[in-house]
Amino acid sequence: MTDQSTLKPHVPTYGPCSIRDLKPGEIKLWCTCGLSKKQPWCDGSHTGTSFRPLKWIVPEHAQTVYLICACKYTKRSPICDATHIGLTSTIREQIEGCPLKQEHSNIGDKKLCEQCGFVPDW
Ligand code: FES
Repeated sequence: MTDQSTLKPHVPTYGPCSIRDLKPGEIKLWCTCGLSKKQPWCDGSHTGTSFRPLKWIVPEHAQTVYLICACKYTKRSPICDATHIGLTSTIREQIEGCPLKQEHSNIGDKKLCEQCGFVPDW
C-alpha cells in the first residue's frame, strides 16, 4: 500500500470551496487527488491512482459555512488552512523539478503524476 503522505495531488482550485448546509454526523468523502469534478468531494476519479478519499464526519456542532480545501495541500484536511496562498509558484517548481518530468509527455493511461501532481489534460 502506498504511503498517502508522499503523494502529490493535482491542484483543482487555488482556494477553498464554501460549503453550506452540512448536517452534524454526516459522512463526507473529501477528494485528496484533486481530480474530482465535484470538488471538494470525491467522485471516484481517483480510481487507477494511489490516492484514496478522506472520510470526514461533520462535527456535532456544525458550522453554517465550512471552507473546505480545494487546493489539496491543507495540513488540516479537509478544512482550508490558507496553504493555497502562494502555492502557485511552489507547484510550478514541483512540476518543473519532478524526477519523472521526462515521462510527463508520455503519461499514457495514468491520470496524473503522483510525484508532482502534473495532469496532462486538465
Ligand atoms: S476523486 Fe479524488 S480522492 Fe476520489
